[in-house]
Amino acid sequence: MNFQKLCVLGLGYIGLPTASTFAINGIKVLGVDINPSVVETLQKGQIHIHEPGLHNLVTQAVQTGNLTASTRVEESDAFLIAVPTPFKQHELGDYKGQKFKLADMTAVASATEAIVPHLRKGNLVILESTSPPRTTVDLVRPILERSGLKAGIDFFLCYSAERVLPGQILRELVENARVIGGITPESARAGHELYATFVKGKIIETDATTAEMVKLMENTTRDVNIALANEFARLAEKLGVNVWEAIGLANLHPRINILSPGPGVGGHCISVDPWFFVEAAPELTPLIRNARQVNDSQPHFVLKKVQQAFHGSVGNHAAEDGGMSGLKGKKIAALGLAYKPNVDDLRESPAAEIVHLLQAEGEQVKAWEPFKPNARLEGIRMATNLNDAIQDADMVLLLVKHSEFARLDPQVIASSTKARLALDTVNAWDVEEWQRAGFQLLRLGVHSAPVPRAV
Ligand SMILES: NC(=O)c1ccc[n+]([C@@H]2O[C@H](COP(=O)([O-])OP(=O)(O)OC[C@H]3O[C@@H](n4cnc5c(N)ncnc54)[C@H](O)[C@@H]3O)[C@@H](O)[C@H]2O)c1
Repeated sequence: MNFQKLCVLGLGYIGLPTASTFAINGIKVLGVDINPSVVETLQKGQIHIHEPGLHNLVTQAVQTGNLTASTRVEESDAFLIAVPTPFKQHELGDYKGQKFKLADMTAVASATEAIVPHLRKGNLVILESTSPPRTTVDLVRPILERSGLKAGIDFFLCYSAERVLPGQILRELVENARVIGGITPESARAGHELYATFVKGKIIETDATTAEMVKLMENTTRDVNIALANEFARLAEKLGVNVWEAIGLANLHPRINILSPGPGVGGHCISVDPWFFVEAAPELTPLIRNARQVNDSQPHFVLKKVQQAFHGSVGNHAAEDGGMSGLKGKKIAALGLAYKPNVDDLRESPAAEIVHLLQAEGEQVKAWEPFKPNARLEGIRMATNLNDAIQDADMVLLLVKHSEFARLDPQVIASSTKARLALDTVNAWDVEEWQRAGFQLLRLGVHSAPVPRAV
């Protein structure tokens, strides 16, 4: 097999680094995106997403002449699909009254259709998008076979999910172990050969459905474990325990590794992918569905905590309803809108949902996201910088553990805001330091007025 030309469909967080890495390793790559502005941006030598080192890599790839971009697919030796696999926005599944989200596979289907007229004998097609189990055999294969060619006989077909960590994509693309699932062993072998162009981690061959399941199991495991940590945080608040201390102590056990609670789970992967299992077999997945629901409800838990914080700070007893009838019109500086630290990705962000929930309750929120200062999110008022967010605020609400937020000096913050109340949902700030600077610092997972303990 000799793969000299590769067509990568979808030039986002996954497709663009992958296309560029193949290109600097000697493969002629045509990057294809249906969004003309993505293609124009690349043609001008710029990039439309933030990922450390990516701009340099793309520049290098374009300079070698190996990376070009277009809105149209062309004949190639191999095709790699890295398009989005979100869930449907306006349709839910139902199993005995239990609702669940449904995968929207429109982009995978249309990218696959775009390959059909250009598919030739001996070609390799790889699906990289995280997909519901059996997508490669039940969705992609029949579409490609409309070409008149047979998968596994005339062309190779594989599934190989991306497992990179945003913020470290370029290193992990090369170093991580990669699972290649072929619809035949020869297809897996062909995929192996292509990725061996640059992958230094182990490359393991298996069948396509196993490879799909592996990726979903990885993300589902994280989601369920985060849901458990979030429930621990809720319990700790009720019981007068500091969840961060308790988790640290529990993790001293050699076989325990509790993850961190937080304001919720977002992004394009962990908050989406577990639903693919639920959709595939709702009767077998009550734990996965419940974990999703716990994590999806975590922004509401933060909302309640913000409102209780205002009651506490003005010396009131918590309202009978747990603070939900809050003081309206409080000004809140929301620090961070990304779905996780040190990235600019706002998709499915729990931080953005918290801002919406607070505003629906009548609070006035100004959000500051240093990784996307010009973001325009419907219904969210963006600050122009940190000072703009905090100066008139009654509360500083930390929603994302960006390093630059974790490093903030509370003395400096105190001189730039009238707020003396702060709520840290990610355990980034030191309580004593913030208290010394004059703040009342509350934390998720820690009751503000500890329940007296019997000794
Ligand atoms: N972002 C991550 O960290 C990550 C990690 C692992 C796996 N994944 C998976 O990789 C896949 C891609 O995710 P992403 O984050 O790169 O998405 P993205 O939204 O950043 O990029 C996808 C790109 O595909 C383009 N596109 C949509 N339909 C197309 C079509 N029919 N033909 C060509 N281009 C098309 C879009 O315009 C967009 O530029 C998803 O399945 C995701 O779950 C993502």
